[in-house]
Amino acid sequence: MSKDTNTAQPYGGEAKSRARTVTVPEILSMKGGDTKIACLTAYDYATGVTADESGADLILVGDSLAMVVLGHEDTLSVTMDEMIHHTRAAGRGVKRALLVADMPFMSYHVSLEQAVSNAGRLVQEGRTKAVKLEGGRLMADRVRAIVDAGIPVMGHLGLTPQSINTFGGFKAQAKTTDAVKSLLEDAQALVEAGVFSLVLEAIPVEAAEIVTNHIPVPTIGIGAGNVTDGQILVWHDVLGMFDRFTPKFVRRYADLGKEATVALSRYCEDVHHGRFPAEKNTLHMSDEELPGLRKVKPRKRK
Ligand code: KIV
Repeated sequence: MSKDTNTAQPYGGEAKSRARTVTVPEILSMKGGDTKIACLTAYDYATGVTADESGADLILVGDSLAMVVLGHEDTLSVTMDEMIHHTRAAGRGVKRALLVADMPFMSYHVSLEQAVSNAGRLVQEGRTKAVKLEGGRLMADRVRAIVDAGIPVMGHLGLTPQSINTFGGFKAQAKTTDAVKSLLEDAQALVEAGVFSLVLEAIPVEAAEIVTNHIPVPTIGIGAGNVTDGQILVWHDVLGMFDRFTPKFVRRYADLGKEATVALSRYCEDVHHGRFPAEKNTLHMSDEELPGLRKVKPRKRK
């Protein structure tokens, strides 16, 4: 990002002063730069606001929605309508970061027409600025068709959760030299097809380094070490809001799940024992109304 804007600041407390909207060309220009690209997921207005105000450059409405918000076992069951619904909500809270929405499982696999039409729905109905889809060479024609329709695409390689049944679970990928060669070919095919950035999930740092050094678009790592051009984490993982499991590559910055349970149980105890609401939470009628009010008698039932 250029220095004549307010965007060349470190993150954190200065986040709010970085007011200008982040665009796809700006994300591209951060490739290999001094400032890494900070990305987070978000799924609704509240998570969109908090992620945006934190200074994230890119906010993804991930299909992890299926697991962390909707409680499914994996990401396979989330639908286009659900993705659109949540993308619209998150977008209302995101003012600065680049909003990207995941294309859910089976929304781009059937045909080029299906892929373009569903990417278009995420833009028109969900108001996203870009879409992300999983897969390498086999998906390059989809990427090209969507990009040709004027919709920026982010790629996703390594552990692609929509393929867990092929991988046999949420397992790290690209662990052998041959697998890294194949990963690199996938990455290059996606770049040729027009992706503006590439998520690399759950791969060894050595593999991530090779891909990062050989492609001209930013790589965004999640479980890919500290060599990528940026990082992404799931909102609920960062804040300790997902109870089922925490991948080894996650750093938790808060334990909001526990804090929320403590706070909500205090509320329930206060209600049980009549301590809530207190006088300061109570609405009153005006003094002029009170004399009339005291004369109110229930009407006799016929
Ligand atoms: O669905 C998701 O949240 C993702 C990120 C973890 C990259 O794809």
